[in-house]
Amino acid sequence: MDYTVLGIETSCDETAAAVYTTQQGLLSNELYTQMDMHAVYGGVVPEVSSRLHMQKMKIIVQQALDAAHKKMDDIDVIAVTHKPGLPGSLMIGVSFAKGLALGAQKKLIGVNHLEGHVFSACVDQDISFPFLCMTASGGHTSLYYVTDYGEYECVGSTRDDAAGEAFDKISKMIGLGYPGGPVIEKLARSVNFIDYFSYPRGKNTDLSFSFSGLKTAVMYDLIKKGAYNLSTKTFLQPDNEELKVQVASSLQVCIADIFEQKIARAFLQYPDAKALAFVGGVACNRYIRDRLSKLAAAQNKQCFAPSPRLCTDNAGMIAFVGHYKAQQGHFSDQTLSILR
Ligand code: KG4
Ligand code: ZN
Repeated sequence: MDYTVLGIETSCDETAAAVYTTQQGLLSNELYTQMDMHAVYGGVVPEVSSRLHMQKMKIIVQQALDAAHKKMDDIDVIAVTHKPGLPGSLMIGVSFAKGLALGAQKKLIGVNHLEGHVFSACVDQDISFPFLCMTASGGHTSLYYVTDYGEYECVGSTRDDAAGEAFDKISKMIGLGYPGGPVIEKLARSVNFIDYFSYPRGKNTDLSFSFSGLKTAVMYDLIKKGAYNLSTKTFLQPDNEELKVQVASSLQVCIADIFEQKIARAFLQYPDAKALAFVGGVACNRYIRDRLSKLAAAQNKQCFAPSPRLCTDNAGMIAFVGHYKAQQGHFSDQTLSILR
């Protein structure tokens, strides 16, 4: 059956809405990012996030309908992220979606945010199953073995910090601000990705990740260089541009090495995987993308990454998952909760 789906996403710091149809695919993918509002605090402030979602929700939904040249009457299904995420932020999207579904008599589908990321690379390209999916964002770092739409198994996850968090926290540590990923990549590129400091790559030999040790290693290396004060948590050489570039470049290469190592191991464990999808905010990183593409090509596998708009949090991926769930007949009702 054909469906026109309105997707809604408010799990963290993006208020997003999108329209996806069976016949035409993704028609709109609108976003209001709160990033600037949180940047002054060096990270996302939940209370500020909820408040901004409330202000922007209705406007973004209308924007998504307008951009898709659709009216509320044309919509069959409302798909909304219901977990995981910041509770106060999820509540705004879920309550809005429920109210809209009830008032306009539409079907409702709750979508897991991580399932959204896992299938985000499928929104505008066909990927053959089974494939491996590396999801890396500010909140999550997990490897999935994906066998069909809605069928996936987590085969490795971070034990502590997410990869994006490592970029963000180390960026903050050396005064480069939030979000860390883009600025670290830019500085690393300026010296052509030299590994100056050989930060530790981690020793565990399974498919799990750990980034908190890396953060600590960078900090102690800075202390040793006389560039960081542990008790006041301050970077002591704010004008030392050379050191910032060297930290950024070493970190960039180290994180790419960690991904490459784990994914090579995952391909060994799942030899029938035909491709790799690299998704989430960290997948905006061109250097890591290129490294992973080369790794996949060397094994005769394909490597897919979504366009940047579908990498970071967005409602396009939520509408897409909502669409295949509708086709599978998996609908939610008004008891949809952010807890289960
Ligand atoms: O998916 P996303 O928008 O939000 C979460 O669900 O967390 O990801 C945001 C994360 C941030 O940690 C940011 O530093 C990282 O994605 N990021 C990058 C790049 N662009 C964004 N990390 C590495 N390189 C980039 N170019
Ligand atoms: Zn996300």
